[in-house]
Amino acid sequence: MEDYQNKAKVLIEALPYIKKFNDKIVVVKYGGSAMTDKAIQKSVIKDIALMRLVGINPVIVHGGGKDINDMLDKVGKDHKFINGLRFTDFETMEIVQMVLAGKINKDLVGMFSFEGMKAIGITGQDGNTLIASKHMPHGDDLGYVGKIENVNVELILKMVEDKYIPIIAPIGADENGKTYNINADTASCAIANALKAEKLIFMSDIKGVLKKDKKTLIQRIRTDEIDSLIEDKTVDGGMIPKLQAAKESVLSGVNSVHIIDGRVNHSLLLETFTDYGIGTMIV
Ligand SMILES: Nc1ncnc2c1ncn2[C@@H]1O[C@H](COP(=O)(O)OP(=O)(O)OP(=O)(O)O)[C@@H](O)[C@H]1O
Ligand SMILES: [Mg+2]
Repeated sequence: MEDYQNKAKVLIEALPYIKKFNDKIVVVKYGGSAMTDKAIQKSVIKDIALMRLVGINPVIVHGGGKDINDMLDKVGKDHKFINGLRFTDFETMEIVQMVLAGKINKDLVGMFSFEGMKAIGITGQDGNTLIASKHMPHGDDLGYVGKIENVNVELILKMVEDKYIPIIAPIGADENGKTYNINADTASCAIANALKAEKLIFMSDIKGVLKKDKKTLIQRIRTDEIDSLIEDKTVDGGMIPKLQAAKESVLSGVNSVHIIDGRVNHSLLLETFTDYGIGTMIV
């Protein structure tokens, strides 16, 4: 009996959050690194399904770094990253598209269908959602790495209105149809900003942003601290574009931006429906 009452209590405690987020858009960046474990993946899909069923509009942007590396290994191609961005030559771009659009995106749609949810998987090429151009950070030529010039939210909003869960692979195209590999964090940031999302949640394979000792969690980071965290190398690799994206979204008015551990069961629900702060919040 007590057990059941505790369960009821949990539901009641979620009520203010359910009200607060009713009909709001929450963008979830699902990190490739947190996607490799099938059991965790199933649990994440269930959490997102629950969000949708209580009236939130989740929009999913996914990465796929680990799967892309595995495929490059299989075909005997090197992979290299420069400041967290993948050097993408023509062949790598083809593999990025095959893995992100062909495999991961459709696998995710299938998993939502299995939960009885309506999901549609697109890349930024569909409906001209992500208009991109060549990105050359600090003059580095990274090949087909793109930056986003414009997000066309029309298609995403149509899906949201019709209660589909949009699942977006971060591939963009320019006006000539040339495709670009866009870092999934950068893409989720641009999409969250364009949708004026209430929340942006980055799910990764790490507790959150860690101090230099690579052990201690930093619970809150102000946007004006981010550049120095990158400069003094407290963060490197994939955490660089993630923090830059987080900063940009906070500054463009997304109410809350979080980096959470996708490996922890139901971290998404804890983050959305409780006061219990997990991971790192960017303020
Ligand atoms: N200070 C730091 N705190 C936490 N993680 C850090 C830090 N510095 C670097 N990292 C690295 O950043 C990684 C997260 O970025 P990464 O791009 O690898 O994953 P992702 O963005 O979740 O997945 P994907 O790129 O496939 O979408 C962590 O696994 C960690 O190795
Ligand atoms: Mg990444």
